[in-house]
Amino acid sequence: MKEIYVRLMNEARCIASRYELPEFYRRFKPSLTISRRIFFNNPLLIHCRELITPQYIGDFGHGLQHATKVSVDAGTIVLLEGEKYFTVQAELERAVVLVQLAGLLHDIKRMENKHASAGARAAREILYDFPLSPLEVNCVAEAIANHEAFSKPQTCETLTGQLVADSLYDADKFRWGPDNFTHTVWYMMSYHQVGIAELCGRFPWGVDGILKIKDTFRTNIGVQYGPEIIDLGVRIGKEIYQHLQRYLNSIEVELKTESRD
Ligand SMILES: [Fe+2]
Ligand SMILES: [Fe+2]
Repeated sequence: MKEIYVRLMNEARCIASRYELPEFYRRFKPSLTISRRIFFNNPLLIHCRELITPQYIGDFGHGLQHATKVSVDAGTIVLLEGEKYFTVQAELERAVVLVQLAGLLHDIKRMENKHASAGARAAREILYDFPLSPLEVNCVAEAIANHEAFSKPQTCETLTGQLVADSLYDADKFRWGPDNFTHTVWYMMSYHQVGIAELCGRFPWGVDGILKIKDTFRTNIGVQYGPEIIDLGVRIGKEIYQHLQRYLNSIEVELKTESRD
């Protein structure tokens, strides 16, 4: 990534660090810890992560870091929502593993057109050798196929599949909050070689699109806690926007001074 983007990304992170943590991350700390523990210790997830890590290099903001956050949050949502679905703890934990596999794999084809369906096909191939039942592989693939924003989701084959798909979607869209401004946007700008002035020009429209995602959350947890995450991201984004404008003004003054000298 170009030095200027790294610098601005770090400044954006400083701005974001002054804001409070969204309630989802404060209230559900114990479930987040369990989800994180499963994600980093389950053998299927360790194996999957090792397999796909090389494919996530040069990812323009949707790489392993993004996949990890989505997996941990999605696992947390399954733990919270799954209490109503599962009476056996092992079944609930298996659903967490499935949603975390989906989280790891969901953007594996992010650089391709129709990346959700391409990712679902790739996931089926990758998981073919895993000790998973055909129903479980299908559950992961269906979740990946249904994770795209502003597109009508297909109904999943099983209740577990629906829970996994909806949780993956919501955890992925949580990233449209602060993460968008502290991580994703800088990698995407760098990848597409978008200038700072152009980013500032696009900003107001970008925010409108982000706000629309608030009405699309699919689980009860997502509906309840997702909008706050998005609103917080937009508040942070607006402050970063002002910071960028000051940065652009300072460059302009610098250039004018140089041309006078
Ligand atoms: Fe995606
Ligand atoms: Fe994603």
